[in-house]
Amino acid sequence: MDLRLAAPAELDAVGELTLAAYAADGVIGPDHPYAATLRDAATRAAAAELWVALDGADLLGTVTWCPPGSPLQEVARPGEGEFRMLAVDEAARGRGVGQALVELCLDRACDAGLDTLVLSTGDWMHAAHRLYERLGFRRLADRDWSPRTGICLLSYRRDGLSNRPPGPR
Ligand SMILES: CC(C)(COP(=O)(O)OP(=O)(O)OC[C@H]1O[C@@H](n2cnc3c(N)ncnc32)[C@H](O)[C@@H]1OP(=O)(O)O)[C@@H](O)C(=O)NCCC(=O)NCCS
Repeated sequence: MDLRLAAPAELDAVGELTLAAYAADGVIGPDHPYAATLRDAATRAAAAELWVALDGADLLGTVTWCPPGSPLQEVARPGEGEFRMLAVDEAARGRGVGQALVELCLDRACDAGLDTLVLSTGDWMHAAHRLYERLGFRRLADRDWSPRTGICLLSYRRDGLSNRPPGPR
C-alpha cells in the first residue's frame, strides 16, 4: 500500500470515495446537507493536506491532515493537530488501510513537533472508535459537539506524541 498526497487529477475520485464511505453506514447519504462538503476534496487539498492510500492505481482510502493554522481544524486548540474525513472504500475495509492513514497523521503530528492530535467523529462510527482506541486515543468529552440537529460528534485525543519512538514507524 502506498500513502501519498492526492494528485490534482484524483480530487474528484477522492471526493466520491469519501462520500460513498460515509454513506455506506446509512447516516449521511448523497442528499444529506454534509454530502457536498464530503465530496469537496479540492478544498481539503487547498486548505490542509489531502492524503490517499493506494494499491497500485486503485484508490483505497483518504484522510485530511490539518496542522495548526489550517482553517479546516474544528476541535483543535492552539498547538494541536487534527485530522478529518478518514474514509476507506467499503471493499477495502478490514485490511489496515484506516489504521495506516491514522498512523500517517500521528507521524505528521510528530514531524511537526506536536504533542497532541485530536479529532471528532460521528457517534455512530463504531469501527472508527475501535480503531482510535486501539491506537491510543482517549475520549475528550468536553469537546463533543453538534454541527446540526441530529448529528452528535464525539471528540478523541491522543497525546504524548513527543515521547513516541524515533525512526521508522
Ligand atoms: C473507520 C474506517 C476508516 C476503518 O477503515 P479500515 O481500513 O476498515 O480500518 P482497519 O482495517 O484498520 O480496521 C477496521 C476494523 O474492522 C475489522 N474488519 C474486518 N473485516 C472488515 C470488513 N470487511 N469491513 C469492515 N471492517 C472489517 C477490522 O478487523 C478492524 O476491527 P476492530 O477495529 O474491531 O479490531 C472505515 O470503516 C470507514 O471508512 N468508515 C466510514 C467513514 C468513517 O466512519 N470515518 C471515520 C470518520 S471520523
